[in-house]
Amino acid sequence: MHRRHLMTGATALAICLGTLAAAQSLPPLEQKERYKVGFAQMESNNPWRIAETKSFQDTAASCGWDLIATDAAGSAAKQVADVDSMIAQGIDVLFLPPREEKPLIPAVKKARAAGIPTFLVDRSVDPDAAKPGEDYVAFLGSDFIDQGRRVAEWVIENFDGDKGIIVELEGTTGSSPANDRKQGFDERIVQDDRFEIVASQTGDFARDLGRQVMETLLQAHPDVNIVYAHNDEMAIGAIQALELAGRSPGEDVLVVSIDGTRDALQAIIDGKMGVTVESSPFFGPLGCEVMKRYAAGEEIEPWVQVKDRIFTAENAADHIDEAY
Ligand code: AHR
Repeated sequence: MHRRHLMTGATALAICLGTLAAAQSLPPLEQKERYKVGFAQMESNNPWRIAETKSFQDTAASCGWDLIATDAAGSAAKQVADVDSMIAQGIDVLFLPPREEKPLIPAVKKARAAGIPTFLVDRSVDPDAAKPGEDYVAFLGSDFIDQGRRVAEWVIENFDGDKGIIVELEGTTGSSPANDRKQGFDERIVQDDRFEIVASQTGDFARDLGRQVMETLLQAHPDVNIVYAHNDEMAIGAIQALELAGRSPGEDVLVVSIDGTRDALQAIIDGKMGVTVESSPFFGPLGCEVMKRYAAGEEIEPWVQVKDRIFTAENAADHIDEAY
């Protein structure tokens, strides 16, 4: 009886502390005319990143942001240091696209400890180490697993050979889009036994590295007839490597990818690429809207999901003027 009584007290205390923790779990954001906003970009070595930064810069005036934008030049350590510096400068809000899933956890935790509401944009962090609604407000972005799956489904429907020999060019190792785009594509494509992935290697989401890796893989796998790149920049690099090797992308090799950049849409129009599933970089307006909802006291859904289109020979020309 006594023991039961004690346990009830302990349970009540736990519930009480839990409620308190939940109530205190996210830093508040007051409603005001102007906000000091940090946007800690990871790198600026491709059109996607440049378009994302520009989207925040273009949104700043209309959303009342005094924007501090940094560029970590491809270094997760510098991205963490950039966030440290923003915290020291007294930002009200942080928008963070974490380059990799684990190394950016300290940045998320430090912003949380400093009472700064953080929105992860476009990429996420390891969900076992930091969670939306607790460590940061929400993740704003695409379903990367679904993007990979949609590419695989397009390949299954459109590849007209007997045997598909696939080379996969992965994004930055340890990043959420590389992990998820691989999972979505690989799980779906193996359901059709016409296809085999003979090599899968990182090209770090970069055009030059994509070209170099493709050059090497072509020597080991000269019979490749499908290239799946985790982003358009690597797909364009792969097309360059294929052409240098005397191959004809679009004729004897199907090249497929993700993003929707201008160069990719042009490659589709030119018949060198089959498909690109959209991954939008235009997070400025969405960031503004979600931040204002949060400041107004609304509960923000843990994942504010962005819906992606698909670009093929049927519609690429209709969208190239709006591409970046
Ligand atoms: O996180 C999104 C990915 O990152 C884009 O596909 C890529 O182009 C960028 O670098």
